[in-house]
Amino acid sequence: MDAATIAINQRMNKFDGHAQVWLFGYGSLIYKADFPYLERRPASIAGWTRRFWQGSHDHRGTPMAPGRVATIVPQAGAVCDGMAYLITPEVFAHLDHREKNGYLRLATDITFDDGSKVEGLVYIANEENAAFLGAAPELDIARQIARSNGPSGPNSEYLLHLASALRELGKSDPHVFAIEQHLAQLKDAPPAAQ
Ligand code: BEZ
Repeated sequence: MDAATIAINQRMNKFDGHAQVWLFGYGSLIYKADFPYLERRPASIAGWTRRFWQGSHDHRGTPMAPGRVATIVPQAGAVCDGMAYLITPEVFAHLDHREKNGYLRLATDITFDDGSKVEGLVYIANEENAAFLGAAPELDIARQIARSNGPSGPNSEYLLHLASALRELGKSDPHVFAIEQHLAQLKDAPPAAQ
């Protein structure tokens, strides 16, 4: 699956020959860009909504106890806010490897916050990938995130960083903020009796 995802992404040749490509980030890319970029601008994509429906057994969980990370799913009328990065094609090799757990590159229209638009790329994990977990009540998602940990750190850190980064951008995401609130309540709750 990992190797297959990397190979599929490498065959994605839509921007071949382009010296620079805009990449839209909606998850950890909003707050953590561990790659060189030429420019970074707040942006959004229309027709997609962010959901904690992708399993993570390589970053924020383990194969036996996967965590949950963000993907985007199509939704008519929705707008997903995030951050766009202008990058060179070599950066995709790095991201293909970092996000090998089911994420595929997809061409998309990106709208910058000043209203201008550009065609670029986004990584999405759809229901066809083996790590996809799908919909669940936000409280259950929060419970799973609260107990999950992986090589990149606690799953809760990912969610809380994302929620803060969205707030810093002046953006709202009811799904992310609801999970954040559940996490806070779970932390304050006394441990369940054994
Ligand atoms: C992101 O937009 O943060 C992201 C990038 C690569 C894979 C998954 C999500």
